Amino acid sequence: MEIKKYQFQIHGDDRGQLIALEEMKDIPFEIKRVYYMYDTLKGVRRGFHAHKSLEQILICIHGTCKILLDNGSEKVEVLLDKPYEGLYISNDIWREMFDFSPDAVLMVLASEYYDEADYIRNYDEFLKYIGKKR
Ligand code: TYD
Repeated sequence: MEIKKYQFQIHGDDRGQLIALEEMKDIPFEIKRVYYMYDTLKGVRRGFHAHKSLEQILICIHGTCKILLDNGSEKVEVLLDKPYEGLYISNDIWREMFDFSPDAVLMVLASEYYDEADYIRNYDEFLKYIGKKR
């Protein structure tokens, strides 16, 4: 499975670091929604879904966490530990988020508004859904 990580430009100077993200430039889609997770409790694993059409970029802007990506035939674990790095997740990918450090802030940029109808929350359904498309 191809893992697409974006390394964002850091506008650093003697005051510190700054990252700017613009849609269709640094981010390969129009950003309709931003959400973030923080204060995630120890041992929590979340996600457990795929999207039919949503594209996302995940950025762990503080702390660290891991992401499991599963395309139905291959699973890959990705560590997010840099505020200047974004993990692209296309549609049709099962994802789980885990191993959050206590200080982790995981920010997600999404190509669509929140729409429960775009979710596949059952793993067997996910396998059937992508099986039909292949
Ligand atoms: P949930 O889908 O359970 O999060 P995860 O997939 O990371 O485990 O979302 C938690 C709650 O937040 C749920 O009630 C739906 C709500 N929510 C929104 O209202 N808007 C959003 O953009 C997202 C991602 C979730």
